[in-house]
Amino acid sequence: MEEGKGRKIIMFPLPFVGHFNPMIQLARIFHHRGFSVTILHTSFNFPDPSHYPLFTFRTIPHNNAGGEDPMTQPDASSMDLVAFIRLLRQTYAEPFRQSLAAEVGRGETVCCLVYDAVWVRNTEVAAEELGIRRMVLITQGVASFCAFAALPLLRDKNYLPIQASRLDELVTEVPPLKVKDLPVMETNEPEEFYLVATDMVKGANSSSGVICNTFEDLERLSLMDISSRSQVPIFPIGPFHKHRDRVLPMMKNIEDHVTTNWLNKQEPQSVIYVSFGSLADIEEKEFLEIAWGLRNSERPFLWVVRPGFVRGTEWLEALPSGFVENIGQKGKFVKWVNQLEVLAHSAVGAFWTHCGWNSTLESICEGVPMICTPCFTDQFVNARYIVDVWRIGIELERTKMDRKEIERVLRSIILKEGDGIREMCSELKERANVCLRKDGSSSKYLDKLVNYVLSFDSNALAS
Ligand code: UDX
Repeated sequence: MEEGKGRKIIMFPLPFVGHFNPMIQLARIFHHRGFSVTILHTSFNFPDPSHYPLFTFRTIPHNNAGGEDPMTQPDASSMDLVAFIRLLRQTYAEPFRQSLAAEVGRGETVCCLVYDAVWVRNTEVAAEELGIRRMVLITQGVASFCAFAALPLLRDKNYLPIQASRLDELVTEVPPLKVKDLPVMETNEPEEFYLVATDMVKGANSSSGVICNTFEDLERLSLMDISSRSQVPIFPIGPFHKHRDRVLPMMKNIEDHVTTNWLNKQEPQSVIYVSFGSLADIEEKEFLEIAWGLRNSERPFLWVVRPGFVRGTEWLEALPSGFVENIGQKGKFVKWVNQLEVLAHSAVGAFWTHCGWNSTLESICEGVPMICTPCFTDQFVNARYIVDVWRIGIELERTKMDRKEIERVLRSIILKEGDGIREMCSELKERANVCLRKDGSSSKYLDKLVNYVLSFDSNALAS
């Protein structure tokens, strides 16, 4: 399809895996419709462009001309995520403006800028100065976006800051969320977190349109909610990674082959796949409870332990000596896997997850039941929907995560039959497939999105 031929889309992802992946998947979708795509990327966490040969990458330098990168200074590495995002937004504000101006000056017809919702302050003024239309990508679910939109109201009503005595109370303003599910995070800078969350919502509302990595059958009510509050068009065209043109190249390294070989030797639907995404970290004590819980469950497991996942350690050294040897072939520890491939493997019987939105969608698309241990922000919302709305998983709260409870939950998710979880997983998987068919909701929204973007006057804001 060549609708976008001769037109360029500029993208500005947030430089974290859970945000970069969906942006690059969206880039692929636009490319497939004929657009050329240029990705403006921070010098921090700059990807290897050779992995993405379809796109042009430009580095946005940090603002410390000639000096050290502020994002890799010791001060930055000791920051919590909210402070780190504040630094990121400050560091790249002016360099982004200059990079965008340079990109527009290259002469090709620029349709629009697609940017991660978290960047809003950096992008608004710069795009408006240059007369470029802004489209926002929400990398999280729409239900959690609605919960972010409700934060000012919830603050007025004294739900925030969260009080320990109210954790299980239903928040009637955003059902089915309970107080403990509100999308907050532990931080030394709570006001900054509030600012990022509310900015994100304001920025989406003042943009030309919002692109969501979700599908109508999954989040119909939340989509109706967001549409009724917002004047801008909403395009739920997900799941991005399942679009027909297979978005991500399946890059495999030796580790991936070793993992696949191990999975090939396991019984169908027997393996617990454990991964807490790319950002969450845990205490050593929690790590040991998980390790013993997995071992005592006697289920085969594949566990992604990222270097740095366990605070204060390099990798597995907190485990008692002989622990890994004792597990033998029953369990496998890896630093990273090709998650899409793992979830699609027939040996995987359940996904113990932190409920990041990408992981949630990826699991839904493969029909894999989830064990939900959310760690921060939108993950709490996703977990509530997985357990109580879609009924495709069970809860294992982080605060209740001792080895006995873990063992009980892991045994039950594999053994449980007739509770409807696997049936619901199959049904949602099928609905995810249907929405991407030619006449499915996501395909129709994608057609609308392409026409909408093409209708923008080149390099000019609508009056
Ligand atoms: C973060 C937030 O946690 C999430 O809630 C938000 O919506 C996006 O940003 P992250 O913690 O990284 O993301 O989780 P998630 O959204 O699940 O994204 C992780 C991505 O990394 C997924 O696409 C997953 O497939 C990939 N991954 C993870 C791997 O490819 N291999 C791994 O070993 C682990």
